[in-house]
Amino acid sequence: MCGIVGYAGAKDASAVVLEGLKKLEYRGYDSAGIASLNGRLAICRAQGKLSNLEIKLKEKPLPGRVAIGHTRWATHGAPVERNAHPHADESGRVAVVQNGIVENFIPLRAQLQQEGHRFKSDTDTEVITHLIDKYMAAGHDLAAACRLAFQQLEGAHAIAVVSDQEPGKIIAARLGHAGGVIVGLGHGENYLASDIPAILEHTQRVVFLEDREMAVITAGSVEFARLDGSPVTKEAVGITWDAAAADKGRYRHFMQKEIYEQPQSIQSTLRGRVDFTTGRVTLEELPLSPAEAAAIERIVIVACGTSAYAVLVGQFLIERLAGVRVSVDYASEFRYRNPLVDAKTVILAISQSGETVDTLAALEEGRRKGGKLWSIVNVQGSAVHRISDGAILMQAGPEIGVASTKAFTATLTDLFLLGMYLGQLRGVLTEAGSRELAAALARLPELAGQVLADGGNDYEALAELYHQKEHFLFLGRGLNYPIALEGALKLKEISYIHAEGYPAGEMKHGPIALIDRDMPVVCLVPKDNVYEKMISQVEQVRSRNGIVIALVNEGDEGVAKKSNHVLSIPRAHPLLTPVIAVITLQLLAYYMAVRRGADVDQPRNLAKSVTVE
Ligand code: F6R
Repeated sequence: MCGIVGYAGAKDASAVVLEGLKKLEYRGYDSAGIASLNGRLAICRAQGKLSNLEIKLKEKPLPGRVAIGHTRWATHGAPVERNAHPHADESGRVAVVQNGIVENFIPLRAQLQQEGHRFKSDTDTEVITHLIDKYMAAGHDLAAACRLAFQQLEGAHAIAVVSDQEPGKIIAARLGHAGGVIVGLGHGENYLASDIPAILEHTQRVVFLEDREMAVITAGSVEFARLDGSPVTKEAVGITWDAAAADKGRYRHFMQKEIYEQPQSIQSTLRGRVDFTTGRVTLEELPLSPAEAAAIERIVIVACGTSAYAVLVGQFLIERLAGVRVSVDYASEFRYRNPLVDAKTVILAISQSGETVDTLAALEEGRRKGGKLWSIVNVQGSAVHRISDGAILMQAGPEIGVASTKAFTATLTDLFLLGMYLGQLRGVLTEAGSRELAAALARLPELAGQVLADGGNDYEALAELYHQKEHFLFLGRGLNYPIALEGALKLKEISYIHAEGYPAGEMKHGPIALIDRDMPVVCLVPKDNVYEKMISQVEQVRSRNGIVIALVNEGDEGVAKKSNHVLSIPRAHPLLTPVIAVITLQLLAYYMAVRRGADVDQPRNLAKSVTVE
């Protein structure tokens, strides 16, 4: 949700932290602040976007070589400056930033108030500051005071602390799943961040904190320990992303850039995993013998949001290609219904960020019940990646736009590869079948490129015509039903138009009542096994004066004649059509949001990585 950045070194620390926060603004953005140490502790905070903080810092800079900063997405307390992080204690000795929720903050605050502490904000985070202050006043050093304070907190937290009593230090901690805590290692300088893009331009060597671990960071050293004080040795990980990938470049929005990156991210997803001559798929990160693959009785795929729509495609693909029973669930529901899991069940989690709290909890539930844990995840070293017994890294590169795009198509491609891999190991896919599918995969980056290059689809004209509509319907069948769901989600989250995705066959059981001359209906009608059935849906919408925007294969004049508008896509293998079709719907949503003047990369109320329940 929120974003944390820290720096200790020889540079202007608040400037480094501010630049890092800019890279994390997608995580939360109702207020922001920085605390810096320059002999004394100084804090600057501002309500609203990060640019407000930047203006304040220009007027009154915060000099110093050690600083921590935070972008906030409010959970406790209104999004006003008084509630923005960092929070200092009364004496101005300690400053704290936190991601997460202190679930027991009410009794803790009452106790601290009884002891004479006066609170200045409505946040849960401020109790952490007062607790640390209390233990320092009792004679503990900063690290010991933090440990004692953190041990009293209930909930999940990522925390950073500075104090003018020990001015060269940042204390960082991770307690439970409240997003990543990443220490970036430099030469004569070290960094702290909740997500990799914040520090990517400075270092690609990072250490991920695990649950209940702390780091004491100075310019020249980083010491790791558990919350009980016992030291822990951590390995640094080399991040393969480069800094340019986390930059907007020539594009107006990150979402736009990420949509246009899809031919390349799909290519990267395939690279080294498919032998296009034999059709053989190798997933090195998921080594399996044929016997192990044959022993799998069921796969349960769990995820949230856009990733949960990829799950529906995955169910179809894995059952079809590998002959394994697949069930699917929202990660947020899975853990609350006492799911049936045993040693022959694989729990497959899908997550771009690898930090979504519900997805992590679903994996933990699977672990408790003895299942095997796999994941398809974009962020190397993230919590989902680390907890998994086997993981497929998406190779989508950093995704910054809040609305997921390239991670979705990378996931669909990975699910296809997983289906082929299991199908080959289990003897379900023949050699000829594998070669045919591999040939279809080989064309996928090129086809995605055609969707993006094709001037035939006039998204801007459609946006001009329909940007003032209040409702949209998206209809699809079979593999394209999840794509209808995803098209509707993309539209609603970035343009705030109410949109519903529906399985087309269910239309007549209710939603058909909604159709009138004001209702645009996006019908997904590629040439596949349900093509004729979809045509009859188009007829039904038209006969009730609905506005049909049909997504068709190039040159499909028959459907074009029955529709008000067409969006055409090149012909792909039917099992890969969702990858191509969704790019068109991403562009439709994008241009609609731009026409409505919405903030495409930072839609209201949304954050990129949902680390609180
Ligand atoms: C929508 C979107 C969200 C995420 C969801 C899960 O465009 O991005 O719905 O898909 O929050 O996030 P991850 O995949 O990071 O677990």
